[in-house]
Amino acid sequence: MIDLKKVFEHVTIPMSVSEPDYPNRLLYVNKAYCDLVGYSSQELIGVNPGELLQKPPYTKAREQIRAKLNNYEDSISLVLNHRKDGSTFWNELHLHPVKENNVCIYWVGTPVDVTAAVARSAAELEKVITTLKNNVSEIKTDIIEKIVIPTFNKRHRQNKRESAQFYTGQTHS
Ligand SMILES: Cc1cc2nc3c(=O)[nH]c(=O)nc-3n(C[C@H](O)[C@H](O)[C@H](O)COP(=O)(O)O)c2cc1C
Repeated sequence: MIDLKKVFEHVTIPMSVSEPDYPNRLLYVNKAYCDLVGYSSQELIGVNPGELLQKPPYTKAREQIRAKLNNYEDSISLVLNHRKDGSTFWNELHLHPVKENNVCIYWVGTPVDVTAAVARSAAELEKVITTLKNNVSEIKTDIIEKIVIPTFNKRHRQNKRESAQFYTGQTHS
C-alpha cells in the first residue's frame, strides 16, 4: 500500500484537502502549500482557508467559489491571498470534488501562484490604456485643428462682417 501522505509531502505543487461541506475546513495540507502561504499545517488544519487567506470580507471571486462548492462542481478562480507575513499573491485556485457513488467525500485544492503573470497582464493593459490615451489626445488635437478652429474663424469673420454692416448701415455683403 502506498503511503500517499508521505508522497504528497514531496510533491512541489501546493495541495490541500478539505471536508466536503461548508465551512470546508482543511483536513490536510502538504509542505508546498505551507511554504506558499507561510502558515504551518497545525495552523491550517481545521480552518476554512478563505477565512484565513482572503482579507476583504466580500469579493466576487469568493461568491463564485462558494456557488461552485455548493453545487459540488470543479472550479478555477483567481483570488488575492494574504500570507502570514502580510505579503500577497494571486492564487489561481483549482478546486475539485472527490466523489464516491456520486457523493462528494472531500475537496482537493491546488493553488497556483500566478502573481507574475497577473503583473505582466496589468503592465500590458497599462500600455494599451496609455496608447489609447495618446490616440484620444491626437484625435482631440485633430478635431480642434480641423473643426473647432475653422468654425471659430468662420464665426469670427461673420461677426466682424455683421458689426461692420451695423456701423456702416450696409445690408449687403
Ligand atoms: C480544498 C479547498 C481549498 C481551498 N483553498 C483556498 C485557498 O488556498 N485560498 C483561498 O482563498 N480560498 C481557498 N478555498 C476557498 C475558501 O475556503 C472558501 O470556500 C471560499 O472563499 C468561499 O467563501 P466562503 O466560504 O467564505 O463563503 C479553498 C476551498 C477548499 C474547499
